[in-house]
Amino acid sequence: MRFYDLIIKKRDGQELTKKEINFMIKEYCEDRIPDYQMSAMLMAIYFQGMNIDEIKYLTMAMVHSGKIIDLSSIPGIKVDKHSTGGVGDTTTLALAPMVAAAGVPVAKMSGRGLGHTGGTIDKLESIKGFKTELGLNKFINIVKKVGASIISPTSDLAPADKKLYALRDVTGTIDSIPLIVSSIMSKKLAAGADAIVLDVTTGSGAFMKEYKDALKLGKIMVDIGLEFGKETVSVITNMGEPLGFAIGNSLEVKEAIEVLKNRGPEDLRDLCLVLGAYMLELGGAAKNYEEGRKRLEKILKEGTAFSKFKEMVAAQGGNPEIIDKPELLPLAKHCTKIKAVITGYIQKIDSQLIGESAMLLGAGREKKESEIDLSVGIILKKKVGSKVNINEDLAEVYYNDSEKLKEAKNKLLSSFVIGDKKPKKIPLILAAISKEGVKEFR
Ligand code: URA
Ligand code: CA
Repeated sequence: MRFYDLIIKKRDGQELTKKEINFMIKEYCEDRIPDYQMSAMLMAIYFQGMNIDEIKYLTMAMVHSGKIIDLSSIPGIKVDKHSTGGVGDTTTLALAPMVAAAGVPVAKMSGRGLGHTGGTIDKLESIKGFKTELGLNKFINIVKKVGASIISPTSDLAPADKKLYALRDVTGTIDSIPLIVSSIMSKKLAAGADAIVLDVTTGSGAFMKEYKDALKLGKIMVDIGLEFGKETVSVITNMGEPLGFAIGNSLEVKEAIEVLKNRGPEDLRDLCLVLGAYMLELGGAAKNYEEGRKRLEKILKEGTAFSKFKEMVAAQGGNPEIIDKPELLPLAKHCTKIKAVITGYIQKIDSQLIGESAMLLGAGREKKESEIDLSVGIILKKKVGSKVNINEDLAEVYYNDSEKLKEAKNKLLSSFVIGDKKPKKIPLILAAISKEGVKEFR
């Protein structure tokens, strides 16, 4: 088999066989296919797409590029969660202890993230002492004892994805449905969960700008999950504005703690309840979505998710006192305010631009090697639909470096669109897709 012929085949819109896909992944992982050829293949897939069988074979080949983690010693149905990417998205931090408090074990591997802000792992590292590289045995033992643990992926978790993702990132081939599905699902399947809940975001800053594309992506991920015998639910959510008020690592930890204290921003809390309700349903802790949601509302009210988070932090070496006193989290040295230049209603807060502003402040990585500043970020003072008067605060900016602030400030201001009329607010939760079909919330 020659890889050149496979590139031509895909370029011309033909279907690749299981054998060909296995060959491609194996040879690429063993450095026998150079990046320039794989780049051409990725672009061919980008334009020609893949059918469900090809996506299945690709996902499977990527899973088997590494090891499948065996979570079978943990009793219960293990439910994993993944988001296709949100700005200011701190749901995992609140969700894992919420779901664990309801008795569904959460054994989660999370990424560091490249882009706007850090990933869940970076955020957790703003808690002093918190270890994210524990080794598999310790990880499993914490899940058994506490009910939840979040660590960095082990190096043998779908290594093909690591290599392919880095190449996609520099070849304009990230936002391709077959490539996103195989990337996400290979990691979830290799991580050993029994069931999967996915947050598929749409709008500015998301990979799928259009609702109909997000729906399609969500549906294919459910089908692929089912192909592998894992019940999967995709929740389609609107990223018409950043999630919650905080964007930035330690600021988002604080925001997650607020949710666990039964407070916090309404949209973030709602998303946690929705994703969590499906996790409870798939995990067998609730008969259906409605029952799961009620159960989680009660858990938040009673504070058991909050204490679960403290337990998890302590088990992973972090200082649990910080969870009681979030003012101990790192905070940037300086704070300035962005003010409205006209009076009106907030029409839009561009997630992409807010994310880029946070990155300019140092909250995210421009390159894989970049250092992250966990203490910087943005707190929104207004959300879409809010009334704002001239000179009123739109956002607070936490920064350490005034040069970086200068760059971020204009971008941040331009992400707010203010107009005369009160806009119609698009709901956060648009649809949920399961094996039963699509349920639209709009
Ligand atoms: N998240 C992933 O892990 N992979 C993708 O391809 C897109 C989002
Ligand atoms: Ca947030």
